[in-house]
Amino acid sequence: MVASTDITVTRAEKSKLKETNFDKLIFGRYFTDHMLEADFENGEWKNIEIKPFQPLVMSPALAALHYGQSIFEGIKAYRDKAGNAFIFRPQDNFRRFNISADRMQMPQVPEYIFMEGMRQLVELDKNWIPDKEDYSLYIRPVMFASDEVIGVKPSDSYKFLILLSPTGPYYSAPMRIYVEEKYTRAAPGGVGFSKTAGNYAAALKASAVAKEQGYDQVLWTDAFEHKYVQEIGTMNVFFIIDNVAITPGLGEATILEGVTRDSAITLLKEMGLKVEERPLSIDEVIEADKKGTLKEVFGTGTAATISMIKELKYKNHVIYFDTDKWIIAPELKRQMTDIREGRAVDKFGWMWKV
Ligand SMILES: Cc1ncc(COP(=O)(O)O)c(C=O)c1O
Repeated sequence: MVASTDITVTRAEKSKLKETNFDKLIFGRYFTDHMLEADFENGEWKNIEIKPFQPLVMSPALAALHYGQSIFEGIKAYRDKAGNAFIFRPQDNFRRFNISADRMQMPQVPEYIFMEGMRQLVELDKNWIPDKEDYSLYIRPVMFASDEVIGVKPSDSYKFLILLSPTGPYYSAPMRIYVEEKYTRAAPGGVGFSKTAGNYAAALKASAVAKEQGYDQVLWTDAFEHKYVQEIGTMNVFFIIDNVAITPGLGEATILEGVTRDSAITLLKEMGLKVEERPLSIDEVIEADKKGTLKEVFGTGTAATISMIKELKYKNHVIYFDTDKWIIAPELKRQMTDIREGRAVDKFGWMWKV
């Protein structure tokens, strides 16, 4: 265990807060005054620093640039009326971060650096947490290989950073999506469950093709038959069939274990729905549509919380939804947002006080 004094803090001389227009916050574009930085060298973590947000100086031979040993997380912080900062379920992101690290042959980040470092950083920059409805402070932990050597092997050194970015309301209009039958996001034995940079680069082509055709995203399917559903873009997916919420299970390790997914499962059960985590084929979805039992389809993720699907296309079969008439997804979104923004009782202990 590292002592708390091992995080050195250097404050920015001047805050950028007043120059930042909080009415025009583009996601991921603005950063707070400080960041956390730590190095893994010779088998141990060192140089744990909170310091003014600044560029990194790196060698062109940086291992992460060439071979993609890089992982990250996405978390959100909120501020209550009394000015206290809270972070939504960060322990789950911490756990997931180290699962990603293990898969990518990277060192584990100690809880102290991840959680206590994040706590001190958010506390220092808590005036950057917008206190308006639907606004939050996005927290981005990231770790990458920092050896300055070209060669395919696990790096010996790594850099861990935490950045903070104030974000505005994430308006997500109901989406048009199609079932992806050409490109593959993940296969058993691969890295689909890991939040590693390459997963996102590999998905860009399919998203671009979808956009060219007027769609917002793709519904990823399994690598072998393109038959079993996985995720929508960078969100987990739920189908409401009759009064049952069905979401792909985690058994094959091809999808990211979303924190919002887990929160949705808890709240849906509270709302009286049966929740099934299991393989779901697109044939079963189409069959339910034909029978009239397919009620709602939505994605879950930290950025948008819940994103409704208004159109789902599979081959020649197109399903249109009148999302204005939906009951479950809007209620789920309301409950989740109320907990995060302090309007509802946090009975599951999801809000972690900074
Ligand atoms: C591929 C992928 N799936 C699902 C999710 C949703 O996960 P979470 O609810 O933890 O944000 C994300 C976003 O982080 C993602 O990138």
